[in-house]
Amino acid sequence: MQLLDGKVVSAHFKQEIAAEVAAIRTASGKIPHLVAILVGNDGASETYVANKVRSCQELGFQSTLLRFEPTITESELLDAVRRVNENPDMDGLIVQLPLPGHINPDRVMETIDPRKDVDGFHPINIGRMAKGLPAYVSATPQGCLMLLEYYGIETSGKHCVVLGRSQIVGLPMTILMQRNTYPGNCTVTVCHSKTKNLPQITRQADILVAALGRPGFVTADMVKEGVVVIDVGLERVPDASKKSGFALKGDVLFDEVAPKCSFITPVPGGVGLMTIVSLMKNTLQAARGK
Ligand code: GUN
Repeated sequence: MQLLDGKVVSAHFKQEIAAEVAAIRTASGKIPHLVAILVGNDGASETYVANKVRSCQELGFQSTLLRFEPTITESELLDAVRRVNENPDMDGLIVQLPLPGHINPDRVMETIDPRKDVDGFHPINIGRMAKGLPAYVSATPQGCLMLLEYYGIETSGKHCVVLGRSQIVGLPMTILMQRNTYPGNCTVTVCHSKTKNLPQITRQADILVAALGRPGFVTADMVKEGVVVIDVGLERVPDASKKSGFALKGDVLFDEVAPKCSFITPVPGGVGLMTIVSLMKNTLQAARGK
């Protein structure tokens, strides 16, 4: 069993990205600029956004965090998005999800200028990705592909089973893994809450992507020997022994599944670290596109 080590891979790509940011700055004086919109104060979202802002500082990007009360109206939020769209100094925009229930996330995503949509959530970017055209690919699926690529894992002709059909991870992952490119060319099965005989399907997986958001859902009896497991889950589970009061758990019961795997991502220290790197990569691309 070998770890798909997000620490190693993200450090590699961060170095590359920081060097490119410095080169752009020297050549043109331009500093790639990421804007994050955070509505309300959901604990996990606060952590994710703080990590994104910290990564910007670390890699030499400019960042702006726009915070709004959870009572903001949808139309006020859409206006804030439009102001970022129109600001030529702002290259990339993310609106952290989830949003409060009275705001339609699809309307917000559709309002973001697709050229600044570094999360890759706009229907134009999802459509372009599905067609294999240049597009912003959403950060977490792209991070998974970067791990597969970095470790040179063969994907062609393999059976990839994706657990979960979220718009952020499951759906794009199924599209990306069946594309006629590397990493890709898989036979893809997507499983969700209505899937019958799920363990029977997961046991057929050469590559298993777990993106359900259910801590410890995947157990050893659900995978075959030699499987490659990518655990996208990152849930806060109460843990009195931790200073924060919680531990981060993936969708896979690591200790019992790992011995059967050829490769597996740890949680934390796997996909989560790659998500930020791919967001930075997309923001760099947005800045270069000017
Ligand atoms: N919430 C959970 N994951 C993500 C993400 O990748 N982007 C945004 N904007 N919100 C999220």
